[in-house]
Amino acid sequence: ETAGGPGPLDILLAAPRGFCAGVDRAIQIVDRALERYGRPVYVRHEIVHNRYVVESLQARGAVFVDTLEEVPDGVPVVFSAHGVPKSVPAEAEARGLFYLDATCPLVSKVHVDADRHHGAGRHVILIGHRGHPEVIGTMGQLPDGSISLVETVEDVATLPGKDDRGAGLAYVTQTTLSVDDTAAIVEALKARFPEIASPHKEDICYATTNRQEAVKILAERVEAMLVIGAPNSSNSMRLVEVAERAGCARAQLVQRAADLDCTAFDDVRTLGITAGASAPEILVEEVIEAFRAHRGVRVEEVRVREENVSFKLPRALTASEPA
Ligand code: F3S
Repeated sequence: ETAGGPGPLDILLAAPRGFCAGVDRAIQIVDRALERYGRPVYVRHEIVHNRYVVESLQARGAVFVDTLEEVPDGVPVVFSAHGVPKSVPAEAEARGLFYLDATCPLVSKVHVDADRHHGAGRHVILIGHRGHPEVIGTMGQLPDGSISLVETVEDVATLPGKDDRGAGLAYVTQTTLSVDDTAAIVEALKARFPEIASPHKEDICYATTNRQEAVKILAERVEAMLVIGAPNSSNSMRLVEVAERAGCARAQLVQRAADLDCTAFDDVRTLGITAGASAPEILVEEVIEAFRAHRGVRVEEVRVREENVSFKLPRALTASEPA
């Protein structure tokens, strides 16, 4: 330690953090498709919301596009982990495209539930963030007008249906929401529509729940918190909010070490680090190394949950002969 330089930094690493089973599967799907079919493999939308992941796959021959129209005939196309409206596979089929669906199975479960409620004649309320690809995908499971989006507790009051007890309603949610905010919205929905149908099991996924739980516990022990993740990653942004609300005033998102000014943390002795579900561990290591290059560092992992979820790959990628 140099005279006057910052003292050692204690880093508390949240566990679980980083990749969830759905992200892991989505990346493997693109990876295996490249191996099996050769380049290029087209991917509709960022496969997961992380620039590092996208650029690594691009270097191997993946081509990222926003719409199916940009996909030439005769090349495989992968749909991202966030899910797609029903019109997308329908359009792919109409064009005879070979597609692989990397929609997380936990998002597909929400799609199936929305469909089931619609089939039973219920109007569906989706709790989520407007414009997020998962919300676009879930809304696109049903005909226009069959789903209403609710983003806040206040939105609940603006829903139509005076004196309606909600027998003809059901709600589903985005998988990567704040557990606490969603509980408040659900409470408001149930207060207004006591008979609204609820999901059998929470739609917010295990990975979102566990990462928020871990960051909450960490927030009480640290002076500042870094969340490794992308600004368009819903679950990463929620981790920043959860840390702030748990009392850690200095919580911030960082994409990778290059974007970080370590000297801004010279006054910090205990720093928490976590990573969103789409952020690879290498970016966490990079950030720790950046601090290590600047001052002494001690790392302690704080594990609050074990995770052992994994999802199967589509059969086309595991069968012995290419499809
Ligand atoms: Fe799936 Fe949850 Fe990850 S919905 S993609 S496991 S954040």
